[in-house]
Amino acid sequence: DFYYGSIISTMNTAPKKFAVIGHPVNHSLSPRIHLLFAGQFNISLNYDRLDIEQEGLLSQLEQFKSQRFSGLNVTLPLKHDAYLLCQSLSDKAKLTESVNTISIRDNQLFGDTTDGIGLIRDLTSKGVKLENTRSLLVGAGGAANAVMADLIEGRPSTLYLTNRTIEKSMLMESHWRNFARTHSVTLKVADINDKDQGQYDVIINATSAGFTSELSPIPGELISHNTVCYDMIYGRETPFIKQAIEHNATWHDGLGMLIEQAAESFRIWHDKTPDTSTIKSDLASLKLI
Ligand code: ATR
Repeated sequence: DFYYGSIISTMNTAPKKFAVIGHPVNHSLSPRIHLLFAGQFNISLNYDRLDIEQEGLLSQLEQFKSQRFSGLNVTLPLKHDAYLLCQSLSDKAKLTESVNTISIRDNQLFGDTTDGIGLIRDLTSKGVKLENTRSLLVGAGGAANAVMADLIEGRPSTLYLTNRTIEKSMLMESHWRNFARTHSVTLKVADINDKDQGQYDVIINATSAGFTSELSPIPGELISHNTVCYDMIYGRETPFIKQAIEHNATWHDGLGMLIEQAAESFRIWHDKTPDTSTIKSDLASLKLI
C-alpha cells in the first residue's frame, strides 16, 4: 500500500515537460523566463531548448506527444509550420496563420499565438499608446503578420505597412483589410522611398534586417524626436535602433515583448498570470544591449 501510494504521489508531482523548439534556439531565453515564472508559484517544471528544423517537425511533434510533453513554445522558422500541423487552433492563430504556443492534451496539439499580446502588453507597460496614432509596421514576413491582429485591435487611426518587397505588403493589406475595417482602422501600404510621407508616431520593425544588414530597413527621415521606435529583435543594437538614437527618438528593443509573450504562454499552460516586472529587471541587468 505504501509503495503504491508513493508511486501515485510521484506521478502527481512529476514536473510537467515543456520546450522551446526552433532553429537556432541555442541562445533562447525562454527556459530561463519560464523557470523564473514557475518559481513565482512554486511550480516545478522541466523546460528544454530543442533545435528542430522544418523538415523534421511533423515527426518531432509525434514524439513530443508520446513523450508526454505538456506544451511547446515555437520560434523561428517553425511558427507557420506549427500552425499547419496543430489539430485545433485559437481564433488568433487562425487569423495570423502563426503558432508560438502549443498545448498538448489528450494526444492533440492545440495551437495559439501570444506574440501580438506580448508586443501590446510591452508597449502598454512602457506607456506607448497605439490608439489614434499614425503607426508604421515594417516587414511583411511571419513576424509582422503574427502581431497584426493585436496591432489592429490597438486601434491606431491608420496603420501603414511597408516592406523591402512592397508586393508582400500589398498582399498583407488585402489579407487584413476586412479585420481592420471591423475595427475602424485604416490600413495603407506606404512606399518606403517616399520621403515626403511625413513622420510616424510609432514605428515597429518586424524585419530580420537587424541580423543580416548594416542598414536600417527604413530611411531616417521617417523618424522624428516624437516617434517611438520599437525593434522586435532584442539583445543587439540594430541599425534601426541606432537610427532612432540619432534622431533622439524614444526606442525599445524586443526583450519586453519576449517576456510578455512568454507570460501569456505560461498563463495558457498553468492558468496563472506571472509578474513580468521583476523578470524584466532581472534580464535587463544581463545587459543584453
Ligand atoms: P520572419 O518570420 O522573421 O518575419 P521572414 O518571413 O523571412 O522572417 O521575413 C523577413 C522580413 O524581413 C521580410 O519582411 C524581409 O523583407 P523581404 O520580404 O523584402 O524579403 C525583411 N528583411 C530581411 N532582411 C532585410 C533587409 N536587409 N532589409 C530590409 N528588409 C529585410
